[in-house]
Amino acid sequence: MPLTLPPGEGPPSFPDLLTTAGYRAMAAALRLGAFAALAGGPLSGPDLAAALGTDPRGTGLLADALVAFGYLEHAEDGYANTAMTTKWLSGNGYSQVDRFWSTVLFESWDGLEESVRTGRPALDFYRWLAERPETLARFQGMLSGMADTIVPEAVEVVPVGGRLLDLGGGHGKYAIGLCAAHPGLRATVVDLPDALAVGGRAVADAGLTDRITLREGDYDEIDLGAGYDTALLFNVVHGRTAEANRALLARVAAAVRPGGAVVLLEQDEHSTDPASDVFARVFSLNLFHGQGGQVYAAEEVRTWLAGAGFPDTTTHPLRSAPGQSLIIGRKSP
Ligand SMILES: C[S@@+](CC[C@H](N)C(=O)[O-])C[C@H]1O[C@@H](n2cnc3c(N)ncnc32)[C@H](O)[C@@H]1O
Repeated sequence: MPLTLPPGEGPPSFPDLLTTAGYRAMAAALRLGAFAALAGGPLSGPDLAAALGTDPRGTGLLADALVAFGYLEHAEDGYANTAMTTKWLSGNGYSQVDRFWSTVLFESWDGLEESVRTGRPALDFYRWLAERPETLARFQGMLSGMADTIVPEAVEVVPVGGRLLDLGGGHGKYAIGLCAAHPGLRATVVDLPDALAVGGRAVADAGLTDRITLREGDYDEIDLGAGYDTALLFNVVHGRTAEANRALLARVAAAVRPGGAVVLLEQDEHSTDPASDVFARVFSLNLFHGQGGQVYAAEEVRTWLAGAGFPDTTTHPLRSAPGQSLIIGRKSP
């Protein structure tokens, strides 16, 4: 949020009006390729419009708004990316996160009132995602990038034996990381077809097709098998209702051997960092609207685990991803 406003006495919504408009203008610039076009150096308004194939007057007005919001700055005869825009938004890295979240906020939150009014998600997030292959690729890319950061710590913490079941394992990075660290481990990753297409490429690139099986299907419906030492449910339970989680955990308990473990990766309900704490609220509302889920209190998750047959739980806050934790539930021997 490059724009900072002095504290004022006006309507409390006015700063949000401005920052929301700023985020929308930033999203337009990303979608049109403006920050990437300016990565090569400053351009005049008409030259920027020519580079983007856009209307010169509209481009100038957008660029002026982006200057006001602190994404661009005036340069001699034109516009330039600020240092922070160059660092975060002019390439293909973090900008994909904003491409994803701006699409979610400005396209999928349309029916938010209906979700809140009825208590049922007005949107089916995964169907919505499947209809938008680029957004789906960004979603899996974001989670895959997050997994690259978390995998070394997950390898330290996740108890493994010979067989691992990763439910909703999509991009495959956790199964890949754990199999790479434990040569005797074989994994089955269950997910929906579009997500597994991403995972299939990653597993092939890692040379692990002989040890990682990809299983297309609905983890609420398919036979999950039995005898697994460990089951992963990473970033899964927050996307579902409490009732659906209790039912899935019972199915997972039946698939895990006595003494085995289920490991959840979840956002902490509260964080000491104010931005992470606000993000948890936004994330929770988004999960409710798109999937009927939310960020659940750790105590509630532990109650589900105990009820499903995982009475012994430990929580491991992640150094690699502050505000997120691994919750390990042990099945009785
Ligand atoms: C939030 S993502 C988490 C991906 C990965 N576990 C991680 O933590 O990075 C949830 C995953 O669950 C998958 N998923 C959602 N509903 C599912 C269902 N009914 N059956 C199988 N997979 C599902 C999604 O496609 C998605 O890949």
